[in-house]
Amino acid sequence: MPDLITEVLKIEELASARQVVARAAAAIQVGQLVAFPTETVYGLGANALDAAAVRRIFAAKGRPAENPIIVHIAEASELGQVAVEVPPIALTLAERFWPGPLTLVLRKRPGVPDVVTGGGPTVAVRVPAHPVAQALLRAAKLPIAAPSANASNCLSATRAEHVLKSLGGRIELILDGGPTQGGLESTVLDVTTMPPRLLRPGLIAPGEIESVIGKITLSVPSTADEELPEGADQRDRQGTQPASAPLRSPGMLSRHYAPRVPLECIRPEDTDRIEVLRRERRRIGWLAHGSTPADICGLFIIEMPLDAKAYAAELYAALHTLESAGVERIVVTLPPDGEAWLAIRDRLQRASAPA
Ligand code: TXA
Ligand code: MG
Repeated sequence: MPDLITEVLKIEELASARQVVARAAAAIQVGQLVAFPTETVYGLGANALDAAAVRRIFAAKGRPAENPIIVHIAEASELGQVAVEVPPIALTLAERFWPGPLTLVLRKRPGVPDVVTGGGPTVAVRVPAHPVAQALLRAAKLPIAAPSANASNCLSATRAEHVLKSLGGRIELILDGGPTQGGLESTVLDVTTMPPRLLRPGLIAPGEIESVIGKITLSVPSTADEELPEGADQRDRQGTQPASAPLRSPGMLSRHYAPRVPLECIRPEDTDRIEVLRRERRRIGWLAHGSTPADICGLFIIEMPLDAKAYAAELYAALHTLESAGVERIVVTLPPDGEAWLAIRDRLQRASAPA
């Protein structure tokens, strides 16, 4: 039950926000929960080395205990605080992509509480690039465990107001650093296996990673590998983990990142579907793409950008807008295939999966 007063502290310019950051860092040090902006989405942070504080993250989000949390550090030189046996390939990737939206799954250091890793032997780590996240990490002088700052299975937050809507009354503090730039979560790559395996597509495309370290396995998890028919294309298997397989990366659960209203994806040529829904007199929200739809009564249209980066930056905010506008159904015109759209299509597919 919500019972806290959630304070929202605005940070307009980091230079003048030293005191605000110091307060947030002190809150982290005493086991409180602080939401903060990263370059991807807002994170809900707690001291990663304090099991009780991390347990509070799970309670605030309603997150299943087996879903591990990403640990954020200020720079790669701090990896030793949370990970062991860091392979050279991880350091190469860190050098190229950190600070930035790449999360590496590594063997965990014994001191990292089990609650962070879902009881597993690995820990996911990243160095965020956002100046507020950086300032908070440096002031707290601790690794910060932070999942996305939203109630479990709901839309991620790209603005402080989204965090407040989802977690208000459940956390102590929100650092409001304005809208996040990237808009989609980080790419998660397991580097404990060779070749490394993509666990979640994100802002850094597989091709960018492959250009640095060579081939990676593009698919989800698990024992499903052994069940793959000879010659099956790994690239077709995004999200096809069978229900019985161990949850190697639980964020890959098929329904995730979803608005509270039903969402369906259509192909660009299937806009008649909207007419059908409208005849059923539903209030419909439409994330259009690549067309300039006419104003139709009962239809709340948001035209999404044609550029993939700009689309990613606006996706969650657009879905939050439709959710708050009280539409009964959200229709999304699927953006094109192609690597630049991989993470966006992944999130849309998960948002439209049956509950
Ligand atoms: O951009 C992001 O990654 C944001 C910001 C706040 O950093 N965080 C984020 O956290 O999206 P979350 O908890 O919403 O998603 C973390 C993903 C989940 O899919 C989780 O299952 C996976 O990372 N993950 C975490 N630890 C893992 C581990 N040890 N092994 C495999 N997957 C892991
Ligand atoms: Mg999340």
